[in-house]
Amino acid sequence: MKDKISKIKEEAMEEIKDLNNMEDLEELRIKFLGKKGELTKVLRGMGKLSNKERPVIGQMANEVRQDIEKEINNTKESLKKEIQKKKLEKERIDISIPGKNIVLGHRHPLVKTIEELENIFMNMGFSVVYGPEVETVENNFDELNSPENHPSRDLTDTFYITEDILLRTHTSPVQIRVMKENKPPLRIVSAGRTFRFDDVDDTHSPMFHQLEGLVVDENVTMANLKETIDTFIKELFGEDMHTRFRPHYFPFTEPSAEVDVSCFNCKGKGCEECNGTGWSMELLGCGMVNPKVLQNCGIDPDKYSGFAFGLGIDRIAMVKYGIDNIRLLFENDMRFLEQF
Ligand code: PHE
Repeated sequence: MKDKISKIKEEAMEEIKDLNNMEDLEELRIKFLGKKGELTKVLRGMGKLSNKERPVIGQMANEVRQDIEKEINNTKESLKKEIQKKKLEKERIDISIPGKNIVLGHRHPLVKTIEELENIFMNMGFSVVYGPEVETVENNFDELNSPENHPSRDLTDTFYITEDILLRTHTSPVQIRVMKENKPPLRIVSAGRTFRFDDVDDTHSPMFHQLEGLVVDENVTMANLKETIDTFIKELFGEDMHTRFRPHYFPFTEPSAEVDVSCFNCKGKGCEECNGTGWSMELLGCGMVNPKVLQNCGIDPDKYSGFAFGLGIDRIAMVKYGIDNIRLLFENDMRFLEQF
């Protein structure tokens, strides 16, 4: 019997060595130490032993059971450690790997242009205000003295939302809002989106941007308008730039003018780009606020006068940044935008 028991011990110890997972270890425990296990089987035969032998064998069997249990537990412990170690190795954070760059965006060339324009006018004492892109026909046309039959009112030129509501065709309705809500003296600029039913080409887009300016006070004259525009153009494009006022018609200003500035390319000498004229055409529209418009807004035209101007921002951005196609400003192509 002694031999059997020591053989069981040897076998168990030998098998444990080869095991490397928890399930197999448990199976082995049942095989040797369980109720129907090898050791138990041997012990069942104890009845046949003499009184003298029984305690000796009993003690030996107990020692063997303890030894096997101890070996199993030890192996379990080291297995656990092994598993933990592998897990840690797998999950280890490599702090030497370079971090991912945070991609910071930057301002769109149009936004930069708008900010530059606003800054120039703020330095000249203007306030910056905003108006809605969805406007009333009243603010966009009626109060601006636009004739009932003016072509710009046509469905083919303007995006109507209802009969009385539209996408503003210019920033001039901001003039109406400012004059109705405030008393002179007024000195504001307002930049934003405007909409016209235009086909897209290199220089036209159904959505474009304007900056509106309005000054209303006592004794405001055409001289103030000219000086303001001239100063602005020199601030924006440089001291060597000049302006030229050509008579024009706008229903909301009287008299009205269109302003040309020195050719951006040749600064006035005459080149291919300006067809030898030295002038870059139609940069902005302006004029003295029509007394009828002042009246529409509850401002006394006998006491107050004013001037207004509106300029295309997209064109200025294109000249400033050397962009030859207006579509590039709105397509959001990163290859283009990353250049600014
Ligand atoms: N609103 C005019 C346009 O879109 C420009 C303008 C503004 C003209 C203010 C005169 C005064 O063409």
